[in-house]
Amino acid sequence: MTVNAPDYVKNSKLIAWVAEMAALTQPAAIHWCDGTQEEYDRLCQQLVDAGSFKKLAKRPGSYLAVTDPSDVARVEDRTYICSQKKEDAGPTNNWMAPAEMRTLLQTGEKALFKGCMKGRTMYVVPFSMGPLGSPIAHIGVELSDSAYVAVNMKLMTRMGRAVIDLLGNDGDFVPCMHTVGAPLAEGEKDTTTWPCNPTTKYIVHYPETQEIWSYGSGYGGNALLGKKCFALRIASTMGRQQGWLAEHMLILGVTSPAGKKYHVAAAFPSACGKTNFAMLIPPAAMGGWKVTTIGDDIAWIKPGKDGRLYAINPEAGYFGVAPGTNFLTNPNCMKSVEKDTIFTNVALTDDGDVWWEGMDGDAPAHAIDWQGNDWTPAIAKEKGTKAAHPNSRFTVGATNNPALDAAWDDATGVPIDAFIFGGRRSTTVPLVTEARSWTEGVYMAATMGSETTAAAFGAQGVVRRDPFAMLPFCGYNMADYFQHWLDVGNKLQGEGAKLPKIFCVNWFRKGADGKFVWPGYGDNARVLKWMVERVEGTGQGEGHFFGVSPRYEDLDWSGLDFSKEQYASIINADPDAWKAELKLHDELFTQLAYHLPAELTATKQKLEAELSA
Ligand code: GTP
Ligand code: SPV
Ligand code: MN
Repeated sequence: MTVNAPDYVKNSKLIAWVAEMAALTQPAAIHWCDGTQEEYDRLCQQLVDAGSFKKLAKRPGSYLAVTDPSDVARVEDRTYICSQKKEDAGPTNNWMAPAEMRTLLQTGEKALFKGCMKGRTMYVVPFSMGPLGSPIAHIGVELSDSAYVAVNMKLMTRMGRAVIDLLGNDGDFVPCMHTVGAPLAEGEKDTTTWPCNPTTKYIVHYPETQEIWSYGSGYGGNALLGKKCFALRIASTMGRQQGWLAEHMLILGVTSPAGKKYHVAAAFPSACGKTNFAMLIPPAAMGGWKVTTIGDDIAWIKPGKDGRLYAINPEAGYFGVAPGTNFLTNPNCMKSVEKDTIFTNVALTDDGDVWWEGMDGDAPAHAIDWQGNDWTPAIAKEKGTKAAHPNSRFTVGATNNPALDAAWDDATGVPIDAFIFGGRRSTTVPLVTEARSWTEGVYMAATMGSETTAAAFGAQGVVRRDPFAMLPFCGYNMADYFQHWLDVGNKLQGEGAKLPKIFCVNWFRKGADGKFVWPGYGDNARVLKWMVERVEGTGQGEGHFFGVSPRYEDLDWSGLDFSKEQYASIINADPDAWKAELKLHDELFTQLAYHLPAELTATKQKLEAELSA
């Protein structure tokens, strides 16, 4: 078939690849996305006509999509790193030899991608991760048979013709193949509102040839391939080769009442508070602190000539968790999603609005839940049914965010003063600890544990090690990744260099009543302020066996009633609990023994000695 490329497409590699992929997947039509608002509106209308989108009466330019129950989150056990050598993927990634995977997906007699787009339109989605033309940015092209993907990519990335223009005749791009894996038979009309393959899913990365192949899912990180697949798994391998970092981190600016600005990048695992922290509003009683958002999920971080680390947000929108979001905890987010937003798997109210658990005010008397069933508070009480899926999300462009940082789109990025790592831990881990050195900070990030959430398929609330919040997203051997972090730090030491401080936090300690002790959200600004003071060298704290934590009197309590006793219960590091914790570090280190940096083993011995002293 002819690929039907518009006149402005001059890149012969792109045209040849689209032709090759069309021959493989056999779509009924090819649509080259130009990224215009007109195109976006047209595709959304098409999704409305197909019954896949519902237009929301209460939110201008906004839609609701609900998915197949089999397709609600990332599928980590179906995610593969196909490097030539198994040890290059490492023990924390699923691995298959590239040749074997290619047989399965492309070349074998029953290869999954053969004819997979039959009866559907193939969308050609050119996108830039990072500001257009920035030296830090990289270009990708996603071929997808999902219009949902095309419109989400418009909100999440810089997408469209400008990217094609930038590619010119011979520019390079990362090829991203995506199919929902639901081909239609000859003459068959699509009757599903969420096409996907309920039984077969593959999320595949070839790091050496920098390719992504995704089969069977239409949701989030499985399908919006610029996000976790490209900006983390592929980009982390690029960063390792080229001396930079691709991280699962928010980036924020924090301005003191005196007007001095700092930048912080923070890694929390999926559904552990990045979007909320990136948009937080410090309590007014603290006297004029201000937080602005640069990014909420991914950071690309490169050493600058001045010996500092500069971070950009490769994305242009947010794919955020809906449940728990409300005007009290995250007003900036609530304002962001008032218009021009795509909601996925939340509930629909009778007056044409959306609703999810944890939204402000009373629950609606009646709604349609994410699975299309009647929902009332009584039904919820009786059957425990959730109106919104726990991993339901909103997709919205960054420019909707009232707290958007003026530098969010800057090609050079922002200089990082501090890194934060934090997990979701009901016990053991203190509210905040400052690492005493880069190496100890890397150790703490590497051994971080967190309770699993609904962002990925599988058991929830189970503590697992999630090094750097990158366990599901590192495109190469995790032990080599630790070494890369140590190397980046070592290289920055020297004249004029300024290594960011490293902090560990835990917003999620619970009391005997099973409730969170720390108020969190906006009040996390109290911890942020202490970090800034530590960066300035004015903040005080108390040393313990693995770092420095603030005493009660070292934090700003203006406007918050939080007792010394409450504080003691979330800042303490119980030696017995930590002896057990270090055993879990042992397990991780045993798993990662191949290439594990000796510096980390030595750090562990040092901490053990201090703990026993
Ligand atoms: P991903 O998009 O999956 O990477 O998640 P994220 O890290 O951006 O997490 P997000 O900010 O969306 O928060 C996830 C859940 O944690 C939501 O239900 C929030 O309400 C809740 N949460 C966020 N911050 C806090 C906090 O400080 N304290 C408590 N108790 N809950 C929080
Ligand atoms: C996460 O799971 O960390 C997300 C959502 O940010 S997804 O895009 O599905 O990866
Ligand atoms: Mn994330």
